[in-house]
Amino acid sequence: MAEPRVVRHPLVDVRMTTLRDETTDRATFRAAVRELTAMVVYEAMRDAETRPVGIRTPVAGATGAELAAPPVLVPVLRAGLGMAEAAHAQVPGAVMGFVGVARDEETLRPTPYMASLPGSLAGIPVLVLDPMLATGGSMAHTIDLLVDRGADRVTAVCLVAAPEGVERLAQAHPTVEVVAAALDERLNEHGYIVPGLGDAGDRQFGAM
Ligand code: URA
Repeated sequence: MAEPRVVRHPLVDVRMTTLRDETTDRATFRAAVRELTAMVVYEAMRDAETRPVGIRTPVAGATGAELAAPPVLVPVLRAGLGMAEAAHAQVPGAVMGFVGVARDEETLRPTPYMASLPGSLAGIPVLVLDPMLATGGSMAHTIDLLVDRGADRVTAVCLVAAPEGVERLAQAHPTVEVVAAALDERLNEHGYIVPGLGDAGDRQFGAM
């Protein structure tokens, strides 16, 4: 099976427990999404290129670092919206695009309803933010849109991934790396991740 990069850290496990717990209230759930997003984005940016920049400390001249190519962030609405602000806080210079994909609960297929993306993404790192990589349909659709715009450096940033979604993405977009806070067991017959955390959009924003 294709292997995602899973962030191993005790603080990730603790926040993930908050997300999974069905008694967690919405505000606490959203806070844990933000905190985990910061950790997963941190890991997703591990190999980002930097270039040297000259600065002065109060004491002396020094050489610092700046990102050579700030990424474009693409939250997948609705659930990815809760990750947007925390990801942007990690990379304040990032441009943000948006993709809207609803899931047809009968067919489990993605139903796209909007895309607002830069026209050209060639050579630019892109982080797609979606908390749940379940069937992989929404993520694959989003990456199709990015590839149409020339994207060739895409990372899928998730909180919980299912093996089925990781595999589907590996088939559709073999160069895309998945970085996640957890890799769960499987999908159930309704397309929910097991054990998962339920519907990440509903738990953040309320059931529609
Ligand atoms: N989307 C969710 O929000 N949760 C799942 O378990 C699967 C897809």
